[in-house]
Parts: sequence; C-alpha cells; structure tokens
Amino acid sequence: MQLDVALLGFGNVGRSLGGLLLRKRDALQNDYGLTLRVVGISTGRHGQAIDPEGIDMEAALSLVNEGKTLAALHQGAEMADTPGFLAKVPAQLLFETIPTNPHDGQPAFAYLYGALERGIHVVTANKGPIAFGYQELTQLARRKKVGFLFESTVLGGSPVHALLREAFPGAEVKRIRGVLNSTTNYILDRMEQAGLEFDAALKQAQEIGVAETDPTLDIDGWDAAIKITILANVWMGAELVPADVDRTGIAEVSITDLRHQMDQDKRTRLVCEAWPGDDGKIKAKVAPQALPLDDLMTSLHGTDSLVQIETDTLPMTTLIDSGSGKQTTAYGMFVDMLNILRGRHDTSIKR
Ligand code: HSE
Repeated sequence: MQLDVALLGFGNVGRSLGGLLLRKRDALQNDYGLTLRVVGISTGRHGQAIDPEGIDMEAALSLVNEGKTLAALHQGAEMADTPGFLAKVPAQLLFETIPTNPHDGQPAFAYLYGALERGIHVVTANKGPIAFGYQELTQLARRKKVGFLFESTVLGGSPVHALLREAFPGAEVKRIRGVLNSTTNYILDRMEQAGLEFDAALKQAQEIGVAETDPTLDIDGWDAAIKITILANVWMGAELVPADVDRTGIAEVSITDLRHQMDQDKRTRLVCEAWPGDDGKIKAKVAPQALPLDDLMTSLHGTDSLVQIETDTLPMTTLIDSGSGKQTTAYGMFVDMLNILRGRHDTSIKR
C-alpha cells in the first residue's frame, strides 16, 4: 500500500518526525508493506513545498537546517499561504505540529477542520485544537470516515491515549491525576535536589528545550491546564476549556517552602486532577501540592511526568514517562499513523 503524507509544521517535532520516517522507511515497507511518500511540507519560516511524486526528506531537512527555504523542492504553481497549501496538497494523511495557541486553539483548529473535511486523516501533536475542539473534530472525522489521533498532546509520545483507547473497554474513568508539565517538574526537582533558585532552574529548563517559547505558560500552569482539559474532555466526557480549570502555578513557590516541606518528608509537585463534582459535572484543578514520599509523584525527577487513571474496573493504573522530548513526540505521531492505518483510532469506545 502507498500512503501519501504531508507535514504542516516543520520545527523541532516536525523535523524529528521527518527523520523518523526516513529511519523507519525500510521497516514500514518490510513489516507493513507500506510505501510512504511525503508529498508536502509547510513550514513557518522556510516556505512550503508540494511534490506529488514525493519530496526528498533528506534534502528538505538539509535545506531547513542550513536556514534555507524549501522552494527548490516545490513542483507546480505558487502557493500563497497555509490554507493554499492545505487546499492543494495531495495527501491522504496530515501530520500537524504548528505552535499551540493556548487561548483558542486557532489557527490549527481551522486547518485541521479543513483537512478532515477534505477527507484527509489527521495526526496532531498540537494541544490547542484538542483542548478546544476535540468533540467537533472527532465528529467530523467520523462523518468523513477518516482517522483523527493526537497521542503526542499529553505525556510526549507515551501511550496514555492508546492505553485508554485499547485497554479499558467498557470501563468508566472516575478520576485522572497527573504531573503533566515537565518544565515545572524540572524546576521543582532542581530547587529541591540541587538548591537552585527558581530563575536558575527555569533557565536550565529552557536550555534543555522543554519549556514553552513563552515559559509563563508552563510556570503559571496553563500547559498543565490544557493537558488535564484534554484528558477530561476525551476520557471523562467533560466539556471544559482550559480557563475552566482551577489553576495555580508555581511562581509563588520558594526554596524556603520546599525545604520546609522536605523537613516533613514531603516533596512538592504541580498536580493536575479531574473528577466528577457533586453536580455530576467534571471539575479540574492544577496546583502545587506537598505530597508524602509514598506518593508515586514524588519519585518523578527532571522532566518525568505521570498519569494515574482510576476507573470503576481497575482501581489505579499509572503510566510514567521518562526521557520524553521531540523524538518521543515524533514517535507518538508515527504510532498514530499506524493505528489509523490499522483502523485502531476510534476514541468513542468509552461513551
Ligand atoms: N512545555 C511542555 C512541558 C512541553 O514542559 O511539559 C511538552 O508539552
């Protein structure tokens, strides 16, 4: 089988995905009988290229890494912008990795909506459109009989969505708890373990590339709020937006507070939770909590993250993610692609 794919977004994750598709080319052919062609790439700063015969990914990566545009790889008429690219690219599956807009998920939501309407499968790592438009996009995908998956939106590429989709048929999710933001975990851990001041720890988190471009999205708990919104909406049937989450970040946490808690054998983590309130509606909260050492969350170091799922059938299942980054995020997207091809993409199984 031949699959023509397009990449919308070619930053850290998009390029890692490009490299992974190259590295797995033979395995895809040998194990799945799948011949993959990249027929379009749209970047934020290096232009766009469409080639129905297939773009040379090695050449595309070299051009962009040298700071050049992709114009030399484009075949056909000029394209003005991203909507123009999406209207023309002859792909069967779109990988989307443009930056997250934490306020309304746009313009990614509109791009994904348009692609699904054209009958193109969509795989995204972008949290915005899922937090703000999961229901609408999923229903559209169902109507169009195409796949729509987003594994890499929470916990890097670790299989939290696949776990819920595949391993919990018939179960009811009662509560989700997690440490979902790596940057704040890294900062708290460095402050606790190495006695670093907040600003120095944040600078390190930025250096290793885990912080958002605007790190206040991490520090103030927005990234965590977006991720718990996604988990609550997809797996608990909630209809939250990130602003509904009762949110406290870590800006006010001092070394003195952390030391005080450590003296009492506690560690502080930015905890996300979603649970049904007394009115039956799902509530969600993000806040720093001082936890006893027998809580698994206290074992998280550096950029580790974790999700705990409580259901009516399995009391507690924990997934821990260590060592995630752009490569694991890219792998989550690769897995989504294969799951779509295998017809394993219906997130409605729980409702
Ligand atoms: N800034 C995010 C984090 C990146 O720290 O978790 C991954 O979504």
